[in-house]
Amino acid sequence: MCGIVGYVGSEPCARLLYEGLQRLEYRGYDSAGLAVHDGTEIHVLRAAGKIERLGRALAERPLPGTTGIGHTRWATHGRPNETNAHPHRVDGVALVHNGIIENHVELRRRLTAAGARIQSETDTELVAHLVAERMRGGLDLLAAVRAALAELRGAYALAVLARGEPGRIVVAKSGSPLVVGLAGDAAVCASDVPALLPWTRDVLALEDGEMAVLERASLRVYGPDGRAVDRPLRRIDWSPVMAEKAGFKHFMLKEIFEQPRAIEDTLRGRLDRAAGDVHGDEIGLDPALAQSVERVHLVACGTSHHAAMLGRWYIERLARVAANVELASEFRGRDPVVGPRDLVVAVSQSGETIDTLVAAREARERGAAVLGVVNVVDSAIARMADATFYTHAGPEIGVASTKCFTTQIVALLLFAIWLGRRRGTLPAARAAELVEGLARLPAQVHETLRATRQLVANLARRHADARDVLFLGRGPSYPVALEGALKLKEISYVHAEGYAAGEMKHGPIALVDASVPVFVVAPRDASYERVMSNLEEARARDGRVVAIVTEGDEAAARRCEAVVEVPACAEELSPVLTVLPLQLFAYFVADHKGTDVDQPRNLAKTVTVE
Ligand code: M6R
Repeated sequence: MCGIVGYVGSEPCARLLYEGLQRLEYRGYDSAGLAVHDGTEIHVLRAAGKIERLGRALAERPLPGTTGIGHTRWATHGRPNETNAHPHRVDGVALVHNGIIENHVELRRRLTAAGARIQSETDTELVAHLVAERMRGGLDLLAAVRAALAELRGAYALAVLARGEPGRIVVAKSGSPLVVGLAGDAAVCASDVPALLPWTRDVLALEDGEMAVLERASLRVYGPDGRAVDRPLRRIDWSPVMAEKAGFKHFMLKEIFEQPRAIEDTLRGRLDRAAGDVHGDEIGLDPALAQSVERVHLVACGTSHHAAMLGRWYIERLARVAANVELASEFRGRDPVVGPRDLVVAVSQSGETIDTLVAAREARERGAAVLGVVNVVDSAIARMADATFYTHAGPEIGVASTKCFTTQIVALLLFAIWLGRRRGTLPAARAAELVEGLARLPAQVHETLRATRQLVANLARRHADARDVLFLGRGPSYPVALEGALKLKEISYVHAEGYAAGEMKHGPIALVDASVPVFVVAPRDASYERVMSNLEEARARDGRVVAIVTEGDEAAARRCEAVVEVPACAEELSPVLTVLPLQLFAYFVADHKGTDVDQPRNLAKTVTVE
C-alpha cells in the first residue's frame, strides 16, 4: 500500500527522503509528502499526483533539517488530494501512517466533540490528533504515541515527529510492515527494505506491538509491554530489484502471497462478529434500498467479471433478489431494461475500465442506483457511483489480477450478507456462520498457499508443454474454472478453456485426449457428485485429470493423476481457496516458459479504451 521513509542523522535529509520515496514508487501511490524538523520547527511539503510534483515543490522550497519523515500515499480513506496526503501535522506533531484504522468513525466523533479541527478525510489525521492531545497533556513523544495506540483498532505502521523533540523519530508497528536500521551515524526507517538499501543493508523488521525511537546513531526498540528489547540487526543480501519484490521473483507471485493480508484488509472493520452480521456504514447504500431493490445487474470485465459471477450467486442465494451478471461491453451495447428499482453493481479493480464505467453510467442515467466495488479510491467508477465499497487490496502491479480477484469475491460476499440480513432472507445463524468463516479465511488462504506451492510448481513443470488445457467447475467453482483458464492464457500464452462442467458433453469433451490436462475444481459442495461424474467422463477419454479438492478427499485422489487439497470451508468461501492453486499453476507455467509474467504481451493493467 503506502510507503514510509524516515531519517535522523547529520546530513540535510529532505533530498534523501525524496530519493527514498522514489525507490518505493513501484508500489503505487497517488500523493506524496515530507516533514522535516530544522531543530526549531517542523516543515511539511505535500503534493497530489506523481512524486515529481513533490520534487519540483522541494526544488522551489528546500526543507532544511537533518530529521524527517516521508510518505507515498495510496488512498484508502478519502480522496487522493493534497489535504489528504501525509504527513499530517497537528499542533507540533507530524505523522505518517500505513494501514487502516478500523475505528476511525468513532475516533472522528470523539475528537470532534472534544473540539479538534479535523482538516482531512483520512483516518491518519485522527492519529496525529490523538498524539497531539496526549502531548498537550504533558507526555513526551514516545509515551504520547504509546497512549494514542491504545485507542486504535486496525493496522498501522507509524512514524512521528514532535516539534519539542528535535532529532527524534518515534515509530510503531501493528499489522503493517516497518523496518528500521542504522546507516553510519544515521538511524533510518521505512515500510519496505528497498527504500533503505542505498543507506544500509543492516536492518531489523519490527514485530507487531513493537515501537522504536530513532536518534542520531541510535536505535532503541521497545516491546509491547514498553520495556526496551535487544534485537540484533539482520544483513539483507537482496539486490535492489529483488527487494522491490520482497524477495519474490515477480510481482505476481508476491501479490499471490499477499492475499492473506489483502483479504484481512478487505474484512477490516466490516465484520460484526458479536452480532453475526456485516457493518453497513461503509457500503454507503441507503438501507431502504435493500428492501426496495427488485433486480441487481452486475457488470464487469475480465477477472472482475468472474468475481461478479460469484456476486450474482451470493446475492440470489443469500438476499433472494433476482440478479444477472453481464460483461460490461455487452450490457452497454444491448439497450438493457434497467430502471429506478434496479441496482447496478460495477465491479472493477482499477475503477477506470471504460466499458464498466459507461455501462454503469448509462444505467444510472436510466434511474438505477450504482454501487461500485472498486480497489482504487476516487477512481472514475467510484466518483460516478452512488456508493462505493472498496476492496482495499492495495496496489496490484502485476497485470494478471490475483489479490484483486479474491478481495472482490470477499467484498461481494460481505455485500450479499448485508443485503440478506436487511431483507430478512438470510437467517441469523447462517449469517453468523459465514461471518466466522470469513474471519478464518485469511489464515486458510495463508495455509493453502504454503501447502500447495511446491506441489503446484511440480505440476506446472509436468504440464508446461501442453497445447490446450481445460478447466471445469460447477456452481461457485464455474467462475473459478474460468479464472484459472484466463490466468493461464494471459501470462503463459497457452490456450485454455474454462467450462461449466455440465457443458462438457455438449461440445468440449471432443477436445479431450491423452495430451490434454483437465483441471477439475471439485470442493465438497452441493455439486460434488455431479462434478465427479464429469471428472470420470474426462478420465474415460484419457484426459490427464488434476482435481482441486477439499482436504482428505481420498476418493478423488484415487481417480486423478494428481489432486491439490484446500481446507474445508463454507461453500460460499471455497472459490477464494480453490482459485489459489490455479493462480500458482498459471504463474509457474509462465515462469517455466520464461514469459514476461508481470507485463504479458498485448495487455494493459487498466483498459481505458473501448
Ligand atoms: O480494472 P478492472 O478490474 O475493471 O479490469 C478488468 C479486466 O481488464 C482485468 O480483470 C483483466 O482481465 C486482468 N488482466 C485479469 O488478470
